[in-house]
Amino acid sequence: MTRTGKVTVVGAGFYGSTTAQRLAEYDIFDEVVLTDIVEGKPEGLALDMNQSRPIEGFETKLTGQTTGPAGEGYEVIAGSGIVVITAGLPRKPGMSRMDLIGVNAKIVRSVAEQVVKQAPDAVVIVVSNPLDEMTALAAKVTGFPAHQVMGQAGMLDTARFTYFVAERLGVPVGSVRTLTLGSHGDTMVPVPSACSVDGKPLTGLLGAGDIEALVQRTRDGGAEIVGLLKTGSAYYAPSAAAARMARAVAEDTGAVLPVCAWVDGQYGISGVYLGVEAEIGRVGVRRVVERDLTESELAALRQAAEAVRAKQGDVATL
Ligand code: LAC
Repeated sequence: MTRTGKVTVVGAGFYGSTTAQRLAEYDIFDEVVLTDIVEGKPEGLALDMNQSRPIEGFETKLTGQTTGPAGEGYEVIAGSGIVVITAGLPRKPGMSRMDLIGVNAKIVRSVAEQVVKQAPDAVVIVVSNPLDEMTALAAKVTGFPAHQVMGQAGMLDTARFTYFVAERLGVPVGSVRTLTLGSHGDTMVPVPSACSVDGKPLTGLLGAGDIEALVQRTRDGGAEIVGLLKTGSAYYAPSAAAARMARAVAEDTGAVLPVCAWVDGQYGISGVYLGVEAEIGRVGVRRVVERDLTESELAALRQAAEAVRAKQGDVATL
């Protein structure tokens, strides 16, 4: 087995640490670096994960590094081919992702500045919320080509939708295909025309009202978990999604995944980071993949683009 490359996860909260663990357990990287501003936390977690290696049987080495306010410690990320930014605060019950915009913009900005200095060739995967805005901010601050910066949301939202459909119909999750586009928020755009169960259109298996209820639960999927946890937000499904995206980059697979990517003309939408399907490879986003949408799905996607565009404009000044 050949292991190559280094991948960094910034932020050692639950989302970051489970992402680091999943990446290490793939056993395809030389090294997974985990950083955090909380003194000793990334070092402690990396040490713990390294001690799991003999049991789980993977050789990828984990390195933990505390970073300081002026970027101290960030040299550790030098040479990373991929940087996953999870840094930022999670929601509390009752909060929307957008309520985090001010505080997380400052955090993501400072991380992005260090990424430019230390890992200018890295593909950046942003997961901090509000997702579409933080992705746009990271792209702006790094000045990286748009294809080198993307956000994780569509894989998570799609996975949630798939799970809800599978649970509702009592079928394996593997039989279900769903798709969500648009924003990771209120203007999430579910795409029933792209949803199927064992190849049969979902619209033939469930009524419009039933589908809408599952869609709404998907839209509120993060908040439902925040409400149950009371402190912190979801991380098992989110980290699975982020790690799979990083893996598609590392292995240059060309997999078509729903991600937050720079849209430039597709669907008649231009100049905005938005949830779309994209072919993922070594360069990040190889291309945005456009599919046939129904009229109402297309209208909803364009509406989402405008909502996100307005907020992404604001974020540059935060
Ligand atoms: C969620 C957060 C991570 O949707 O955005 O759970």
